[in-house]
Amino acid sequence: MGYTTESKIKHITTLRLQEMKDTGRKIVALTAYDALVANIFDQCGVDVILVGDSVGNVVQGHETTIPVTLEDIIYHTKAVVKGASRPLIVADMPFMTYQVSPNEAFRNAGRLLKETGCAAVKLEGGSNVTEAISKMTEAGIPVMGHLGLVPQSIHKFGSYRARGTDEAEAEKIYKDAVALERAGCFAVVLEKIPAELAKKISDDIKIPTIGIGAGPHCDGQILVYTDMLGLTIDFSPRFVRRYANLLNIVKDAVMQYGKDVRESSFPTMEESY
Ligand code: KIV
Repeated sequence: MGYTTESKIKHITTLRLQEMKDTGRKIVALTAYDALVANIFDQCGVDVILVGDSVGNVVQGHETTIPVTLEDIIYHTKAVVKGASRPLIVADMPFMTYQVSPNEAFRNAGRLLKETGCAAVKLEGGSNVTEAISKMTEAGIPVMGHLGLVPQSIHKFGSYRARGTDEAEAEKIYKDAVALERAGCFAVVLEKIPAELAKKISDDIKIPTIGIGAGPHCDGQILVYTDMLGLTIDFSPRFVRRYANLLNIVKDAVMQYGKDVRESSFPTMEESY
């Protein structure tokens, strides 16, 4: 079922992701927040599942990712870990779980690994978080960085516009990518930055880059799964390709069910005991 030779590898590790970059094999990543969806993605050969703090928008109905708590991510990551065994599972560190101090960040990252069974954490930021990242990586906690559009800073930037479109911002993002690599990150997400900048970063740093709205030159791609499956249609930036239109399929099915119940055509005696 959708397996390739690549999918037969038992567990994806951070080392395997590095090999994939080194051999030019693209990394396939998606978000997931529960065991059901994680299991489907495992069956499809997805390499990396991110339990993103996008759970705040997608599942919890918040406007931003800011209200998501460490306990929320622990809850959802535990479920994802139960559903998927082959993909590398990365737990997102929510706003204010890593900004206060490197020690607090370190403790919270440790909790994510110990309590959920995930294999890595992700956090947003560049040189401002490298001290925390070094502590984690030195203690054996794999860290994925996240640069460009960093949604937890929405109130600082005031919009979800593309980042790195002027020279100064592009240079800062480039330098931050180099700093994240030096701090020991095993990969970095590049969100909504110009394709040329993402190419330069991907060419110059050794660790894999995972793009979302960062063009075709990244070493892998990630999308929020509800966007690519067409469950969330009110959010349609240019970088989201819809591979299905599940919203309409689900609506049709639910409306048909409602009709059948109201008309007493469901259940039939064959569907009864
Ligand atoms: O929270 C999330 O889903 C993310 C991805 C969009 C990279 O950070």
